[in-house]
Amino acid sequence: MRVLLTGIAGFIGSHLGARLLARGDELIGLDAFDETLYPAALHERNLATVSGDPHLQFVRGDLLDAPLIDRLLETHRPDVVVHLAALAGVRPSIAQPKRYQKVNIEGTLNLLEACRAAGVRRFVFASSSSVYGARSNTPFREDDAADRPASPYAATKRAGELLCANYSHLYEIATTALRFFTVYGPRQRPEMAIHKFARLIERGEPVPLFGDGSTARDYTYVDDILDGVIASIDRCTGGVHRVYNLGGSRTTTLAELVRLLEVALGKPARLERHPDQPGDVPITFASVERAQRELGYAPKVPIEEGIARFCAWFREPGA
Ligand SMILES: NC(=O)c1ccc[n+]([C@@H]2O[C@H](COP(=O)([O-])OP(=O)(O)OC[C@H]3O[C@@H](n4cnc5c(N)ncnc54)[C@H](O)[C@@H]3O)[C@@H](O)[C@H]2O)c1
Repeated sequence: MRVLLTGIAGFIGSHLGARLLARGDELIGLDAFDETLYPAALHERNLATVSGDPHLQFVRGDLLDAPLIDRLLETHRPDVVVHLAALAGVRPSIAQPKRYQKVNIEGTLNLLEACRAAGVRRFVFASSSSVYGARSNTPFREDDAADRPASPYAATKRAGELLCANYSHLYEIATTALRFFTVYGPRQRPEMAIHKFARLIERGEPVPLFGDGSTARDYTYVDDILDGVIASIDRCTGGVHRVYNLGGSRTTTLAELVRLLEVALGKPARLERHPDQPGDVPITFASVERAQRELGYAPKVPIEEGIARFCAWFREPGA
């Protein structure tokens, strides 16, 4: 299969690229090495895990460069587009809402337009659990309302889903929106909690803890996410729009997370307490029933095991 993967030099994209190449797919990878969240050198490190493979063609380019995106789709006519490139992260989106809007909404629209023009009929979109907003009735199900986003980032991801639904309706492009629940594992973005906390604990520096430690997240190990994405790539057909939660389907409080990191790193955390942050939600918790039923999705890596694997990677030289 020929796959156009956007965001290949990102955390999840580099893992997905490796999996797709390993199964024999032909890959066109796009990434702009965006430095909003972390430096280009780390994107290069991520990309280095797949570059050199003869079945990968990498294009350094921006989603906002519509003529480039049109040319890319027209030249390669992939069987499927997997769209992971975005500005991620809830908190930074509050500081830069216009930039998030541009990349995540206009960038997604550029790709969908290019798919329409080039006759590409399958589109898999990385959405986010953040679209559910601040809710207390759990677990979150795909049919729950998603109209009260708590951050600009969440609003842009919901807008991306709606654009997918619209292109499916108008042009019979099969679109699948995957709502990822906090993904972690080797090469996780450095500003995300697990990675940031590990760094601070390792250095003996204070760990800022927002709220009383009771906020809970459904953490998903990256290999489990990849299983769900790959099943979606293979089943995204038939011109319809689908939405799936991809989560670990278990919650861990912030306080428990810190304890797991202390155990895995063998060092105590020095906690520094702060009030709740705007944009944060009290809990995320995925119902994965639909993904289980329709994609055969079944998360396999429990948080204890995943944190141990993350910490082993974290201590490798060059991590
Ligand atoms: N990591 C998570 O927990 C999580 C949770 C929910 C959703 N997601 C979504 O999954 C996707 C991947 O997330 P990640 O954690 O790997 O993030 P990441 O930042 O590591 O990867 C995103 C990649 O997109 C690229 N990019 C950004 N703007 C671009 C542009 N204008 N043109 C081309 N490339 C551009 C970046 O350079 C980066 O390599 C994102 O869409 C994110 O919103 C991630």
